[in-house]
Amino acid sequence: MNKFDCLIIGSGVSGLTSAIKLAENNLSVAIVTRADDPNNTNTNWAQGGIIYSDDKELVSDIDKASSHTSNITAAKIIEANSKDILTEVLLEKAKTDFDKDNDGNLLFTKEAAHTHKRIIYKGDYTGKQIQVSLLNYLKNHKNVTILTSHTAIDLITAEHHGISLKQRYEDNAVLGAYLLDQKSGKVRKIISKKTVLATGGIGALYLHNSNTDGARGDGHAMAKRAGAFVSNMEFIQFHPTTFYAGSFQRRFLISEALRGEGGILYNSKNEAFMQKYHKDKELAPRDVVARAIASEMIALKNDCVYLDITNKDSEWIKERFPTIYSYCQKKNIDITKQRIPVVPAAHYTCGGVKTDSFGKTNLKNLYAVGEVANTGLHGANRLASTSLLEGIVFGHRASESILDTISEQDFYDESKIREWINGDTEVDLGLITQDIQTIKQTMWNYLGLTRSKARLNRAKAMFSELSDEVQKFYKNAALHDELIGLRNAVEVAHMVLNSSIRNKKSIGCFYLSDS
Ligand code: SIN
Repeated sequence: MNKFDCLIIGSGVSGLTSAIKLAENNLSVAIVTRADDPNNTNTNWAQGGIIYSDDKELVSDIDKASSHTSNITAAKIIEANSKDILTEVLLEKAKTDFDKDNDGNLLFTKEAAHTHKRIIYKGDYTGKQIQVSLLNYLKNHKNVTILTSHTAIDLITAEHHGISLKQRYEDNAVLGAYLLDQKSGKVRKIISKKTVLATGGIGALYLHNSNTDGARGDGHAMAKRAGAFVSNMEFIQFHPTTFYAGSFQRRFLISEALRGEGGILYNSKNEAFMQKYHKDKELAPRDVVARAIASEMIALKNDCVYLDITNKDSEWIKERFPTIYSYCQKKNIDITKQRIPVVPAAHYTCGGVKTDSFGKTNLKNLYAVGEVANTGLHGANRLASTSLLEGIVFGHRASESILDTISEQDFYDESKIREWINGDTEVDLGLITQDIQTIKQTMWNYLGLTRSKARLNRAKAMFSELSDEVQKFYKNAALHDELIGLRNAVEVAHMVLNSSIRNKKSIGCFYLSDS
């Protein structure tokens, strides 16, 4: 089938939540993922937890963590609606299991920059619990089709086909997407009444990051090419603590919940250094902790700092942080007795495709939800445990908006949309890997935790050259997932660069050493 009422690109928390109400109302829904397993998402790797509270300090905590740049309307929506939406979606429908006390009451924890305990969790694998329970709930709906190993190439728009707005259709409408079926190598034309981008962030474009490989900015690039507004892309949040296993090893997240539960950061001189940087010490906003760690590493010429949770009972540690305990054990660190070597890594994209408070973009029939979207909630920096929350709240609101308007709509005439013409030149996959590596190195070194005019200029020169190259061979190439990723990566790298050049002032997680 190539026609769906709703096409959702991405199978993490925001995409799955968007699908729920649509599926319940008998719309045909396709959920697309380039992974071969729909559970292979950033959501699945989220450890800490999710805010479950409507307390009056929530808006001010979100705003404070963002250096007072948060969109207060979005924050108020979270405060007013998130508890009800989470109750409905997670507790009642998906039956997500969270940790409870002996009387069956939900347990709450705290993370950085929260005035009090308001985060519910499942050990240190909250994201996995949410991911699996949502997917199981949706699998009971026959009108939901999950397309795995399908890479979205481009959104289909009326404009793309030279159909003038007045002539044929309304302003810049999105009509579906072209998808590469990775197994057959064929391109499918999927027509949809509504399209939801839920493709996640761009963390994987950094050499060191806490994300899955899929977080490469496909949604941002497709949206921009189709004419959507993308904003705030300079605000890349670095998580202060990921496991340091050597320069070339991938970074495994060491949840902020460890610091929330009393973990202390030490440098190699055995100093608990955070008090030098912020009155809230380990629980200062993420950008402050991440830069403090980087400063200590530079000052002492060390590769990492250390996180110590050994002050807690060892059985409690194993039960509370089973994933982290077993990961570290495999790396020969017993966290009940030893400090954990940690470094910052790229973690979350605060900006993205600009949306209103129902996930609507400036393009007709195109929604964006979760990390790919910029509702403005996070402004220049994100409060911990708001990412799963934002995905659920705005995914849910997007589905309500879709339901309100979809009945007035017909499918666009498929015959008026051309088939994709695939090139036939085989690309050298080694070259693609090399180009991706160049992008990751450049993002890390010049568009990372600390930026400067000189670094931005260097990045500009590197990306311009790469851009020309990639455009040249993309034109006639036979498509592969990797090539689609590279084309998007170059465009997204430019978005981060251009936003960084435009912003002359350090704020939140954007830090210019010479502003
Ligand atoms: C963490 O567990 O530290 C990540 C939580 C988040 O990014 O909100």
